[in-house]
Amino acid sequence: MPDATSIESIMREQRQFPPPEGFVNHAHVRSLDQYRELHARSLADPDAFWAEIASGFHFFKKWDRVVEWNLPFAKWFVGGTTNVCFNCVDLQIQRGRGDHTALLWEGEPVDENGQPREIRRITYKQLLSDVSRFANALKQLGVKKGDRVTLYMPMVPELVVAMLACARIGAPHSVIFGGFSAPAIVDRVNDADSNVIITADGGFRRGQIVPLKAAVDEAATLTDRIKKVVVLKRCCNDVTMTPGRDVWFHDIVANASDQCPAEPLDSEHMLFLLYTSGSTGKPKGILHTTAGYMIYTAYTAKQVFDLKPDDIYWCTADIGWVTGHSYVVYGILQNGVTCVMYEGAPNFPAWDRFWATIARHKVTKFYTAPTAIRAFMKQGVEWPAKHDLTSLKLLGSVGEPINPEAWMWYHEYIGMGGCPIVDTWWQTETGGMLISPLPGATPTKPGSATLPLPGIDAAIVDKSGNVQPADGGGYLCIRKPWPGMLRGIYGDEERFRKQYWSEIPGAYFTGDGARRDADGYFWIMGRVDDVIKVSGHRLGTAEIESALVSHPAVAESAVVGFPDDLTGEAIAAFVTVKSGIPANDELKTQLLQHVVHAVGSIARPKSIRFTEALPKTRSGKIMRRLLRELATKGRVDGDTTTLEDFSSIARLREEEA
Ligand code: WTA
Repeated sequence: MPDATSIESIMREQRQFPPPEGFVNHAHVRSLDQYRELHARSLADPDAFWAEIASGFHFFKKWDRVVEWNLPFAKWFVGGTTNVCFNCVDLQIQRGRGDHTALLWEGEPVDENGQPREIRRITYKQLLSDVSRFANALKQLGVKKGDRVTLYMPMVPELVVAMLACARIGAPHSVIFGGFSAPAIVDRVNDADSNVIITADGGFRRGQIVPLKAAVDEAATLTDRIKKVVVLKRCCNDVTMTPGRDVWFHDIVANASDQCPAEPLDSEHMLFLLYTSGSTGKPKGILHTTAGYMIYTAYTAKQVFDLKPDDIYWCTADIGWVTGHSYVVYGILQNGVTCVMYEGAPNFPAWDRFWATIARHKVTKFYTAPTAIRAFMKQGVEWPAKHDLTSLKLLGSVGEPINPEAWMWYHEYIGMGGCPIVDTWWQTETGGMLISPLPGATPTKPGSATLPLPGIDAAIVDKSGNVQPADGGGYLCIRKPWPGMLRGIYGDEERFRKQYWSEIPGAYFTGDGARRDADGYFWIMGRVDDVIKVSGHRLGTAEIESALVSHPAVAESAVVGFPDDLTGEAIAAFVTVKSGIPANDELKTQLLQHVVHAVGSIARPKSIRFTEALPKTRSGKIMRRLLRELATKGRVDGDTTTLEDFSSIARLREEEA
């Protein structure tokens, strides 16, 4: 961790936008005072606060205690039994929403007029039937409560069906983003000790077929853990089916019954693992459980998106990331609304796909990432101007800091100046949003995630846990447990303690640097550890480094993130090659391919620089700050006196020239 005093923000944004008047009158929370009262009450008596919220959910057996907190271990709604799938689907039907569209899905391919070839509307009743059949099919395959099931699928309704089916029978899922490669699947399958993978022949992305099944086949040659592979037919591309191991999705559901009662599960039963990057090369399985996650995602979705029964809500995130888990699936379906889901790329067949989709389905609430907004900005306002976006009532942003320029563009050209923007700060580990405006209550400031949500005790502190004065930079930490928090890193208690609970006394350390202004607004400045965010995708520098050094020509490597106008951050790799090996462009190309193969295309470095040595301190630590500076500015002005080898920096400079 760097010294807190070195975290200094250069941004001083003065603009403020009150919640639009028309919005306030119908909002769940209607004034800043009402928010403040709610927040104060939630922290003064968390048990009473969460008990009241929990009363709106279905439990087979009511919990005895709201929370049991033995730092760093939390248990929520202790002693209760419930089922997340039941709350997402069956409960909605009981409430009379059975014939309402739950999923409104568009495939990527378009016809000669640019219209989507496939649109599917799945009601809550239909969803229950699909989920129950697939749950029965999973049982037939031998999947039992507690077994981890890996999902490696395109953005199709069957992915949601598979997740809910797992939740229904108590088999935790581990979803792997389709942009990861076979070795990345192997790491995750091995760590989770997961024997069953659900995949598809392929998925459509930017007019191409992503060959998912082929990656699973390759993974199966690298580990013997994969015993069963369920394959959804999506693109009809050629696949090889291995007898005894591989089965078609449509075959196993064909004769399965559509009756499958939801299993009553302990509140703390594992709901899913989601692998994410940290500061070592090994991805960590973030563990979320049943009742707390269920209630937290539903509550935050309702408040932050101000969800109402007739909302047509669209979150563009891939379900392979936590945003898709919490705010495409679990938090959203529990609110009984219609959730739009889109399979493919934002610029297919052209740069107005998102705007056309919003107009086509009259989307009311839209949640996307700053990277996408910046990419759209670059293409020009003529693309959104072609479409009627007046159905929109609220816009959201997630995944990385949104720069004020992108915020203003979003506000003016997508929201037409009339939609509140919720800039939501959170993490895979937090399960749901922690810092965000409430759209009918919180005046927004472009670039700030604003204020902590009810129940969240966020603070900016130094390394000893001292709260920093207004506008003083420091570490963002959370001082009280909340229901959606991670329960651990799968199989690695030591890493869980060390990573999140040892840096700041008594509090959860987020890994983010931030400042709080005089109004108490949070301004996130980005990671202070070795995590980088490329297009909102979370990657660990160590993962990419270990991919590079696994290439036979590479002796050592260091990877850093540096600012990029479009992707937020981009990846710069510094590489020293083994003696006698020519460091040339051909090797560069090979290394790029090697990283893509080892981790996935999302990890492709933007630049690779060869160097004779890496700058290190006397104790042998790579001086990333210098490398970051070099990657950013093309030179190093900083103090280099602690360098063991001054000449390595000089040589890097020459490389740049
Ligand atoms: C960053 C994504 C600024 C932050 C939900 C965090 C943000 C990391 C925001 C978690 C935001 C997320 N403003 N930064 N609104 N939202 N981040 O686990 O650095 O993929 O620690 O979860 O994304 O990334 P993750």
